[in-house]
Amino acid sequence: MADKQFVNNLFDVKGKVALLTGATGALGKAVAIGYGLAGMKVFVTGRSDDKCKNLCDELTAQGIECGYSIGDPAIEEDVIRIVKDAVEKFGEINVLLTAAGYNHAQPIVEQELSEWKKIMDSDVQGTWLFCKYVGEQMIKQGKGGKVILVSSARSKMGMAGYTGYCTAKAGIDLMAQSLACEWTAKYKINVNTINPTVFRSDLTEWMFDPESAVSQNFLRRLPIGRLGEPDDFVGPCIFLASAASDFMTGANVAVEGGYWAN
Ligand SMILES: NC(=O)c1ccc[n+]([C@@H]2O[C@H](COP(=O)([O-])OP(=O)(O)OC[C@H]3O[C@@H](n4cnc5c(N)ncnc54)[C@H](OP(=O)(O)O)[C@@H]3O)[C@@H](O)[C@H]2O)c1
Repeated sequence: MADKQFVNNLFDVKGKVALLTGATGALGKAVAIGYGLAGMKVFVTGRSDDKCKNLCDELTAQGIECGYSIGDPAIEEDVIRIVKDAVEKFGEINVLLTAAGYNHAQPIVEQELSEWKKIMDSDVQGTWLFCKYVGEQMIKQGKGGKVILVSSARSKMGMAGYTGYCTAKAGIDLMAQSLACEWTAKYKINVNTINPTVFRSDLTEWMFDPESAVSQNFLRRLPIGRLGEPDDFVGPCIFLASAASDFMTGANVAVEGGYWAN
C-alpha cells in the first residue's frame, strides 16, 4: 500500500546524474535546465565547444551542477570519450537522454545518399552508440537506470520528403523496445522514447507564424490547439527519469498535443 513517503519520492530526481545529447538544441536545453533545477547533476554534449561551454555557464549561473564534453554522437571514439568524461566528472550516470538529431526533408529521387546517411548517423547511429556505452556503464554500476530516446510523432506516420527522418525515428522506437527486452528485467534499466510533434526551435520557428497556411492546417488537426514550447517537454522527461515511471519500459510516449489521436 502506498504511504506518504512513497508518494513524495515518486518524482524526486535529486542527485541523479543525467547525460544529455543534443543539449545545445531547443529541447535538449530545456531538459538540461529542467533536470538541473529539479536537483539533478547535468552532463551535456554536442559538437560545438562554444555552444556547450555557453550552455554549461548558463546552467552553472542558475546553481546547477554541470559538466560538458564535445563530440559527434555518430563517432564511436567520441562517444566512448564523452561517457568516460561524464563518469570522471560525476562518478556515475543514472539517466541518458538522447536529443541530438537532424533532418533534411527532400523527395527521395532528389536526396543524395550522403544526406540520407547524415540523417541516419545523427538520429540512429548516434543514439545506438550512446545506448551502447552508457548502457555498459549502467550495467557495471548495477543500480539500474533510465534511458530516454527522443524520437518523433513522425516515427509512426509517413510524410512526403521524410523517407530518411521517418525511417530513422521508427528505428529509434524499435531500438527502445529491443533494449527494453534486453535490459529491463535483467538490469532494471528502463528504456522509453518520447515522441514529440512540432515544438518551437530555430528550425520550426516559421511554423509559429499564425498567418502561415501550413501552421493553420496543422493546428486544425491538433487536438490541443497549439504547438509545443520547449518547457512543455520538461515534465514528461522528469517523469521518465523518476521512480514514477518504474513500470514503464519499451513505451513510445506521445508528447504531441494529441496528434496521434486525430
Ligand atoms: N522541435 C521539434 O519540433 C521536434 C519534433 C519532433 C522531434 N524532434 C526531435 O527532437 C530532437 C531535438 O530537437 P530540437 O528541436 O531540440 O532540435 P534542434 O534545436 O535543431 O537541436 C538539434 C540538436 O542536435 C544536434 N545536431 C544537429 N545536427 C546534428 C548532426 N548532423 N549530427 C549530430 N548532432 C546534430 C545539435 O547539436 P550541435 O549542433 O551542437 O552538435 C543540437 O543540439 C531531435 O532528435 C528532433 O528530431 C523535434
